[in-house]
Amino acid sequence: MEKILLKDKYFVPYISYEKIESAIDAVAERINQDFKDFDGIPIVLCVLNGSIVFTGELMKRFNFPCELSSVRLSSYEGTLSMGVTRRILGLTTAIKGRTVIVVEDIVDTGKTITDLSEILREAGAADVKICTLLLKPEVYKKDLKLDYVAMEIENRFIVGFGLDYDQLGRNYKDIYILDTAKPDTRKYFLIFGPPGAGKGTQAARLVERFGLKHVSTGDLLRREMAAGTELGMQAKSLIEKGMLVPDEVVEGMIASEIEANPDVKGFLFDGFPRTAAQAEHLDRILAGCGGKVDAVLSLAIPDKTVFERIRHRAEIENRPDDTKPEVIQNRIDTYHAKTEPVVAFYKGKGVYREIDGTGTIDEVFSKLCALTDNYL
Ligand code: AP5
Ligand code: MG
Repeated sequence: MEKILLKDKYFVPYISYEKIESAIDAVAERINQDFKDFDGIPIVLCVLNGSIVFTGELMKRFNFPCELSSVRLSSYEGTLSMGVTRRILGLTTAIKGRTVIVVEDIVDTGKTITDLSEILREAGAADVKICTLLLKPEVYKKDLKLDYVAMEIENRFIVGFGLDYDQLGRNYKDIYILDTAKPDTRKYFLIFGPPGAGKGTQAARLVERFGLKHVSTGDLLRREMAAGTELGMQAKSLIEKGMLVPDEVVEGMIASEIEANPDVKGFLFDGFPRTAAQAEHLDRILAGCGGKVDAVLSLAIPDKTVFERIRHRAEIENRPDDTKPEVIQNRIDTYHAKTEPVVAFYKGKGVYREIDGTGTIDEVFSKLCALTDNYL
């Protein structure tokens, strides 16, 4: 097994075909045992495209009567679609009253599999069993029971045996892992704090001083709104109420920025992550490119000051979420409810750095510079 190059990334051997085969032998044996006296014909449901190879290998080993069907889940990859509920496409077999064995290539957070399981139950499946080739136990957060797991792996980005990197690599019979021998040398900083804390103000100065790339999800969304795109129009209706846009939308934006800027010294993310799910997602993106969050620069500021600053900005700028007091209040409430949990996440990783955000712009900037200097 040699190192392979897929597009712009090298991957090195991780799990050999022999190991995969024996793990499939074992899991198929368990399924054969469970279904040997089964009264009826279960449907083996291949989740396209990733599980094609696994489904083929698994089915060859089944020695009970079964049908084969396949589905695809609509995804957000490469798009900025606003839909949050995943849709299942191409299910042609009637599943009402049937037992379905869902075959997945990999389960990480479990979002896809729980959505799919729910959809199948709603469509009247009598029972839904889950069989996955790979599970990342570190990131699996759902209560849904996974009936058959062939192998557990660490939280790394892998390809081969049906799994892809940008549609490439599915054809390899072994599983490969991203080569991190040459790790991502870009730095990842987050500027964090409630609405109006001064994130944008300080970010503009920090990126100039330290040569970082500023990525503000709020600015990116406002750009979409100004351009009148579909995404912008949908985001507008949420932003004007002081609500967050769906995680998937901003996660897609961040992933594109990371990919589009391979040569920058580092990033300063402003307004992202804003939910625990976004923080976990960022970790997964960075695990994929061998990077990590270096520091979370957090601006602490009381709600009263937030209110005053935003009211003041409303007189200068024309942001649609700055005008109505109830919208400002909702943004603050949303911050406490959904964004503050991100603090514990980064404290747990030892990268959270908080400073008092109430001084003058210059005072706050010099404190931030002193902090950032430690990492560059
Ligand atoms: P976003 O644009 O990120 O807004 P925000 O978090 O509410 O923060 P602001 O931009 O209002 O404040 P800031 O901290 O940048 O402060 P600023 O420097 O401007 O997001 C907008 C919306 O987009 C969200 O509500 C959400 O709907 C959506 N969104 C964005 N990211 C998302 C995500 N990840 N997930 C889901 N949805 C997302 O300063 C404020 C004012 O104070 C300015 O006038 C400034 O001049 C002044 N000021 C700053 N510092 C000082 C100082 N030290 N003393 C006195 N005045 C100061
Ligand atoms: Mg801002």
